[in-house]
Amino acid sequence: MTAATPVCPLGKGFDFTNPDVLERGMPVAEFAELRRTAPIWWNEQPALAPIFGDEGFWVVSKHADVRDISKDSGLWSTNAKGAIIRLPEYMEPDQLEFTKALLINHDPPEHTRLRKIVSRMFTPRAVHALEETLGATARQVVEEAVANGSGNFVDDVSIHLPLKAIMDLLGVPEADRDRIHQLVDSIINSDDPDQPFDPVTANAELLGYAYAMAEERRKNPTDDIVTTLVQAGEDGEAMTEIEFGFFVILLITAGNETTRNATSHGMNAFFDYPDQWELFKRERPTATTVDEVLRWATPVHAFQRTANADTQLNGVKIAKGERVGLFYSSANYDEDVFDDPFSFNILRDPNPHLAFGGNGAHFCIGANLARMELGLIFNAIADVMPDVTRTSEIQRVRSGWLNGVKGLGVDYGCPAGKA
Ligand code: HEM
Repeated sequence: MTAATPVCPLGKGFDFTNPDVLERGMPVAEFAELRRTAPIWWNEQPALAPIFGDEGFWVVSKHADVRDISKDSGLWSTNAKGAIIRLPEYMEPDQLEFTKALLINHDPPEHTRLRKIVSRMFTPRAVHALEETLGATARQVVEEAVANGSGNFVDDVSIHLPLKAIMDLLGVPEADRDRIHQLVDSIINSDDPDQPFDPVTANAELLGYAYAMAEERRKNPTDDIVTTLVQAGEDGEAMTEIEFGFFVILLITAGNETTRNATSHGMNAFFDYPDQWELFKRERPTATTVDEVLRWATPVHAFQRTANADTQLNGVKIAKGERVGLFYSSANYDEDVFDDPFSFNILRDPNPHLAFGGNGAHFCIGANLARMELGLIFNAIADVMPDVTRTSEIQRVRSGWLNGVKGLGVDYGCPAGKA
């Protein structure tokens, strides 16, 4: 670290990416303190020095700073040290290089080229085409859960719709879906002990699966989305097998856990604010509800950028090569932007949350799909299990950058209309 460290309000050694911290809950009091006293704050992360080649990163806690950095991909790189701020400690430095093939870890102009190809998959038309099937799935998932009487909301409800959406988008056969789901969980929750596979094996298997898919569609083109990615479009551009393989990994990881966690946190928020659940059931303000669930949940705690040149933020000097953590989980509770940020208000409007990123080049490409899924699932819950209640507190995932939930005990109540 070369720049002057601002006054430390938290005590040396507090780490906003420590999985033990996040397993207990979001460090909301610490974030509030940073926003008030040291909006750019040095976070030591010595355990990751062998991977990132530095001793830590700057915590960016204010909404305006997170947004401004996200919008400037000339100054702030994702390629230099990747976007993930807490990689598993056992990872070798060359494995960081390996992750640079992911779309999110590309800088312009490569990012611009790839993003254009990938956008073929997420046109409003392509997303809208999924609505009917996903609506039916949402209802079926909720009906099956309610028939069980009680259970773990995460396993019974939250996981299904995001998985179905991505598998359908990619045209993955039913028989392969459970296996892929387990592989993905093992990759993304590599700090959590309850995972079936080690992440390196899981990554290799998933990559192999995706390469095979790309090769097959190149040889036998169909009218599906995979074909449109691996075959040249009107602009003559297509993804290589390798690009496609990494894109599949990113898509399955980015699109699953995030939407799943938003669903679980959203339901939990409704348990904490029963008046909001009554309001939702009565008036169905779906668009504002979905955005408030996203703000409240902030499924991605933080991504990082690396400075391409010496600069300064809020009066703090940042040297070329230093990392900054964009803490969406702090920005989304910034008192300068949100009135009464710690209350869950499904009518909040405007709601300029940064759960999908700060509106820059990497802004979440699946945002509209995720919004649609969340709207469908909460409406299905309100229709089919309006009396759902919580039977145990949420159990959080041990992760350094995801705001994950693995358990939420519920009683599904009587199905609607069967008192
Ligand atoms: C609640 C659900 C979701 C949340 C909170 C979320 C959050 C994010 C965030 C914070 C970023 C990085 C933005 C930035 O760096 O500026 C991102 C990027 C991305 N997301 Fe999402 N995401 C969600 C759902 C999805 C879904 C459903 C998909 C796909 C099916 C998806 C695919 C991606 C991809 C491919 C990127 C990288 C884009 C790029 O680098 O150009 N996400 N997401």
